[in-house]
Amino acid sequence: MKIILRILAVMVLLIAGLVVYVQLAWNKKFEAPYPDTKASTDSAVIARGKYLAYGPAHCGTCHVPMDKIMDVEGGELIPLSGGWTLDIPPGEMHAPNLTPDMETGIGKLTDADLARTMRYMVGSDGRCIFPFMPFAEMSDADLTAIVSYLRSQPAVKHEVKRTEMKFLGKALLTFGAIKPTGTKGTPPKSVVIDSTAEYGKYLANSVANCLGCHTNRDMKIGEFTGVSFAGGFALPPDPAMSDGNTYVSPNLTPDPETGHIYNWDEQTFINRFKAGRVYKGSAMAWGAFSRINDLELKAIYRYLKSLDPVKNKVPKIVYGPGEALPES
Ligand code: HEC
Ligand code: HEC
Repeated sequence: MKIILRILAVMVLLIAGLVVYVQLAWNKKFEAPYPDTKASTDSAVIARGKYLAYGPAHCGTCHVPMDKIMDVEGGELIPLSGGWTLDIPPGEMHAPNLTPDMETGIGKLTDADLARTMRYMVGSDGRCIFPFMPFAEMSDADLTAIVSYLRSQPAVKHEVKRTEMKFLGKALLTFGAIKPTGTKGTPPKSVVIDSTAEYGKYLANSVANCLGCHTNRDMKIGEFTGVSFAGGFALPPDPAMSDGNTYVSPNLTPDPETGHIYNWDEQTFINRFKAGRVYKGSAMAWGAFSRINDLELKAIYRYLKSLDPVKNKVPKIVYGPGEALPES
């Protein structure tokens, strides 16, 4: 009995020590280089930035108030004053105000601060930004276009709560299970905009996050566990769109049996995007993606068709509340 009590006492002490350690150590500051990005006032550059922000790069799907997300989905391009909130086990995430307001927005941040967050996932205060925004390999020209557009918006005063880590998030940060995932090489200065698979690859991987949802991953730390574009990732219901269902992403590789778009021709693919959202609760930013132009949709289609076929059966897409999800 005494021995058991002693072991218990030691365990309690160890756990208490761990909790204190995590509380003290989690809030690490990270270093990353500042890209040489300067906002431009050229109207063509700003137009490209706006197109990316409300289209393929879909900043407007998260950086607007929760009750406005469906308006942006529907085509109202309101200022990016922040507010989307996602409550997940690591923490309560809040997408900040990206309008140039001095107190509540990006007014005090430099162009290089903004570009650094997008390329290295390090916040302006040095914190690790969770992997919601896979823009690390975006070209210098597109980074500049987006920053230029952000600067050109009207300032909107809108206080957004700061992201708050829960114990799990703090522990993951303390022990390095989550750290900023920046560029793996040197992103291109600019990319030729045309209908080739090569440009489609850039869009699907480095701009529109098709890769991030159409690949299976571990929800706690965001790590990829499946083959790229083979689908099967069960997305937790997005509170802004939720209809209570869970949606599982289909396999986009050209496998004859399990590839979801194997039988789609280019025009079918384009028409599907132009039609927008079918399921109210799908996390896919159909509204934003319906604004991707035909040239870029062709490029994405050609890229997906050029992938190696991967056999991965996604039995179905929609799962009701409480329904067992497919094994991942
Ligand atoms: C899927 C949702 C989502 C999309 C899409 C998204 N963001 Fe974010 N963004 C977030 C969240 C959530 C945070 C806060 C993360 C945190 O605090 O750890 C964030 C943080 C930021 C920050 C951090 C500012 C700071 O505090 O230092 C910047 C800058 C930013 N986003 C820019 C963008 C831009 C530009 C786009 C589009 C090209 C974009 N985001 C697209 C969800 C998103
Ligand atoms: C936020 C997660 C997310 C992102 C980003 C995303 N998808 Fe999806 N996608 C899904 C989910 C979930 C479904 C199933 C529900 C639905 O059809 O809306 C889906 C469905 C699809 C479908 C089948 C639609 C149908 O009607 O049969 C296609 C095609 C598709 N996605 C292509 C893409 C492409 C291309 C991109 C990048 C431009 C992309 N997705 C980005 C989550 C995502």
